[in-house]
Amino acid sequence: MSDHRVDGESLDAAALLTEAVGHFGDGLKLACSFGAEDVVLLDLIAQNKLPISVFVLDTGRLHQETYDLWEQLNQRYGIKIVAYTPQTEPLQQLLQLKGPGSFYHSIENRRECCHLRKVEPLSRALADAAGWITGQRREQSVTRASLPKWETDATHGGIAKLNPLADWTEAQVWDYIKAHRVPYNKLHDQGFPSIGCAPCTRAIEPGEDLRAGRWWWENPEQKECGLHK
Ligand code: ADX
Ligand code: SF4
Repeated sequence: MSDHRVDGESLDAAALLTEAVGHFGDGLKLACSFGAEDVVLLDLIAQNKLPISVFVLDTGRLHQETYDLWEQLNQRYGIKIVAYTPQTEPLQQLLQLKGPGSFYHSIENRRECCHLRKVEPLSRALADAAGWITGQRREQSVTRASLPKWETDATHGGIAKLNPLADWTEAQVWDYIKAHRVPYNKLHDQGFPSIGCAPCTRAIEPGEDLRAGRWWWENPEQKECGLHK
């Protein structure tokens, strides 16, 4: 169980991860979507030789560039990234009933697809975890402005949820990637600061909100897929 007495706020990312391993041993998992923040976390974990396993929620609709990076990271760090995929039956039913692009038609449909492809697989990924680690940052959206670095995840049975990069700026993320030559998703060079599923993400214009390209047809307040809210 997580410990509310830990003052995650005062710890930098590496110290927070190390402190968490002290608490939870090898029970922590990094949720890796192969975005810039996640490759920073992967590198921090490798540099500090921390016993943290890594998983991806493979929705089946990720970009080819994301799958390419997955292979590259396997090689660079010699790790096994565990994939959690949607359950076959409900996915087949959804595709049969509503077709492959139902998410464009209503928020309910969009949440249904995110639930099936991300949220339900996440509950399986976390079933045996003492805590999980995400690459969320406060700067990313209005929904994340007051994100703590160390929180308790009531949705997943009260395990710990760590957001070690909560107070990092986008520039800090990129400085780290460049300084440590961390492999990154090529979509970032094509105007995608935030990367999710291919049909639901597009490039943004300079000056636009960092997550403006995610579910671009929805309001900013609704842009969470259920993984974090
Ligand atoms: S999302 O909820 O809108 O999709 P976002 O793309 O900003 O989230 O990513 C925030 C964090 O959630 C990532 O840094 C990662 O830790 C986790 N995450 C998001 N999508 C996935 C995924 N497909 N697999 C594993 N982790 C993910
Ligand atoms: Fe489905 Fe789009 Fe959500 Fe991916 S982001 S799970 S394709 S609705």
